[in-house]
Amino acid sequence: MAVKIKTLSGYIHEYQKSIVNPEDFWRQQAEDFYWRKKCDCVLDWNFKEPRIEWFKGGKLNITENIFERQIYTRKDQAAIIWEPNSPDEDSVTLSYSELFNKVKQFSNVLLQNGVEKGDRVAIYMPMIPELAIAMLACARIGAIHSIVFAGFSSNALADRIIDAQAKIVITSDGAYRGAKKIVIKSIVDAAVEKCDSVKTVIVKRRTGEDVNMVDGRDLWWDDLCQGVSLDNEAETMDAEDPLFILYTSGSTDKPKGVVHTTGGYMVFSSYTFRNVFQYNQGDVYFCSADIGWITGHSYIVYGPLLSGATSLMFEGIPTWPDAGRYWDIVEKHKVNQFYTAPTAIRALMAEGNEFVEKKEMPSLKVLGTVGEPINEEAWHWYHDHVGKGRCPIVDTWWQTETGGILISPLAGIIPTKPSYATLPLPGIKPVIVDAEGKELKGNGVEGNLCIKFPWPGMTRTLYGDHKRFYETYFSTFKGLYFTGDGVKRDEDGYYRILGRVDDVINVSGHRMGTAEVENAINEHPLVVESAVVGYPHDIKGQGIYAFAVCNDLDDSADEEGIIKSIKIGVNNIIGPIARPDKILIVSGLPKTRSGKIMRRILRKIASGDYDNFGDTSTLLDPDIVEEIIDKSKL
Ligand code: WT7
Repeated sequence: MAVKIKTLSGYIHEYQKSIVNPEDFWRQQAEDFYWRKKCDCVLDWNFKEPRIEWFKGGKLNITENIFERQIYTRKDQAAIIWEPNSPDEDSVTLSYSELFNKVKQFSNVLLQNGVEKGDRVAIYMPMIPELAIAMLACARIGAIHSIVFAGFSSNALADRIIDAQAKIVITSDGAYRGAKKIVIKSIVDAAVEKCDSVKTVIVKRRTGEDVNMVDGRDLWWDDLCQGVSLDNEAETMDAEDPLFILYTSGSTDKPKGVVHTTGGYMVFSSYTFRNVFQYNQGDVYFCSADIGWITGHSYIVYGPLLSGATSLMFEGIPTWPDAGRYWDIVEKHKVNQFYTAPTAIRALMAEGNEFVEKKEMPSLKVLGTVGEPINEEAWHWYHDHVGKGRCPIVDTWWQTETGGILISPLAGIIPTKPSYATLPLPGIKPVIVDAEGKELKGNGVEGNLCIKFPWPGMTRTLYGDHKRFYETYFSTFKGLYFTGDGVKRDEDGYYRILGRVDDVINVSGHRMGTAEVENAINEHPLVVESAVVGYPHDIKGQGIYAFAVCNDLDDSADEEGIIKSIKIGVNNIIGPIARPDKILIVSGLPKTRSGKIMRRILRKIASGDYDNFGDTSTLLDPDIVEEIIDKSKL
């Protein structure tokens, strides 16, 4: 296994090397792996079409690199430690060889059920080991997994299944989430009803409740595995064959199917994992994300397992049975690296210090955060109370599209600064541009964050829509990948992410398109139109604030009831994560004479800032603004 960067001068040296000759640099990183055939060309690219190809001509299987490549040295080592929702249920440890057997067996199950290389497989499951097994089995046979976070509604799941034309859905009967038992299978049933492409549904038993099994379509996971061989030869994949699709929100209502490919993603997810977290053999690493998001793909499953790590997977939530659950897990399994989101830190901080103070957690060496900017107060609380002042914090900036971490301290190597993601990883060339696309050079500048050179883990296309791929990421600033984030580079050259500059809001570290929420609100029979903006929220980072214009309401209208039913509607159409925190029913929206909603004004009102609306000369009806302000203060 390649050496890790160990010192600041080592980082500077490696960074320079990677910038002067990126191809040589990444070729060296790729040498850690087992390629059935070495590539003909390390990188072929242009951001104009755009076309990005890494390790072209190379042939490999990513699971062969997790298992066969490492099995003789790690067969008895824990690959996954699974901690269930309830502390009263036993945890489960799967060694590399046990996990390998389960993956091979389930690969055979998929093959026996007609899944072929290139087919899409939708996975809608709680955080149980079978979720990781299912995804790795897909990768092993060359099927493309599309994991949908099991908090999305049946409508949202159906949209994603239809877009990917998935042949099969893998799910569970139900799920445990804190004190609650959640239905899963019936959500899948409602979704699959609308999806002609789905021929088979495989159901893993988790909660044991009664579920409706459709004859000829639905099969139990455990029955299918009965007596199935543990021998399975991995499929040979091209480096640029798709590994997975993961849907994410954008500025239009339709979610985007971000496509990641095999070779580059493998090299990048493991390189970044080892270096950012400074993982040492034998460490126990715990990322609290859900595998349904990119963080779980790259830093619970692929990055750690490709690095021979022990990855802890947790089914439950941080606040049940009490707000000490994470700290209990850290002590129980002697966790060395812990990776979570600012929203979880703020939620636990709000519960007081008593839970964390009781725990010494001497095993902890590194703390990580991801998903949204971390405010200084939360950073210090994390550092002082969780890390007891002795663990470096890695504030890792990246995106679903980037496949892995791009800007972050390397733990214990790059000096940190609260709420700064600090410096780019080797191979990453960030640039800051102004609104016109002019590069702002030097330090002490602020603008739009772009990346000017490809890296192996970057997305290659949006599933079925390469034109949209170009338009979303490569058309705003010519020749650059545009991240959608605002950023500041301070006097020390350190990067601080300022948040989205597009119509995307970041709710509890989850990306939500305002248009997507507006469309869901507009489905309500009484709503004529709506506008959704983000506003500062103590726990979630940003909350969702909706302004809705309703038809024919008189003074006696039950606004509370309407608001409630709008929220239920959004729940059903997208899922609880998109439910607005506040809804204001108004008689109109502030618009320009050309009919454009002035969101800038709504954002200010939503954040309780009623001064300086800037230039309002193009406003069609200034009275509307007064009305909205008055009502928002009620
Ligand atoms: C957006 C990407 C990357 C996995 C989780 C979210 C924001 C992410 C940070 C950070 C400030 C961050 C950005 C980015 N973001 N990490 N450390 N500091 N902002 O993935 O859903 O694709 O969202 O999350 O705005 O663009 P995602």
